[in-house]
Amino acid sequence: MKLNNKNRIALVTGASSGIGEAISRELIKRGWLVIGIARSSNKLSEIRKELRDAFIPFTCDVSQKRNIEETSQQIREMGLCPSLFFLNAGIAGESVIENPNRFDLNIHEKIMQVNYFGVFSCT
Ligand SMILES: NC(=O)c1ccc[n+]([C@@H]2O[C@H](COP(=O)([O-])OP(=O)(O)OC[C@H]3O[C@@H](n4cnc5c(N)ncnc54)[C@H](OP(=O)(O)O)[C@@H]3O)[C@@H](O)[C@H]2O)c1
Repeated sequence: MKLNNKNRIALVTGASSGIGEAISRELIKRGWLVIGIARSSNKLSEIRKELRDAFIPFTCDVSQKRNIEETSQQIREMGLCPSLFFLNAGIAGESVIENPNRFDLNIHEKIMQVNYFGVFSCT
């Protein structure tokens, strides 16, 4: 991944924990401004407190198209135009998807809404 772009504004989904939080911290360490997206506003606020102005949090559910449109609008209104998108928000549901005896269509639908269509909607 090229981390030394001139326009150093990145948008990271799933920025409230795990890989998304880690990549946000790494990008900021390398001089990027990070727009961090997730549903847990509390966790995002905690990260914001620590990383200050370099981390711009947005509470948004990427499985909700309307929510993404509103968030995109807010980002545009702030004059921010990311040059790097790390669309990492996702759910796993391992206990269900890896066990054929516990097949649950609702969980598969939710995974597709977040992990698959969530990425397309953000794009
Ligand atoms: N870690 C692994 O070994 C591994 C392996 C294969 C694939 N992955 C994939 O890599 C990604 C990150 O994994 P991770 O281990 O860092 O998981 P994680 O710690 O559970 O983090 C997932 C992130 O996605 C966010 N998220 C979940 N649903 C969301 C939604 N509807 N809208 C917005 N944000 C949402 C969560 O925040 P909120 O709950 O605050 O919304 C959280 O910030 C996931 O897509 C995961 O499926 C991970």
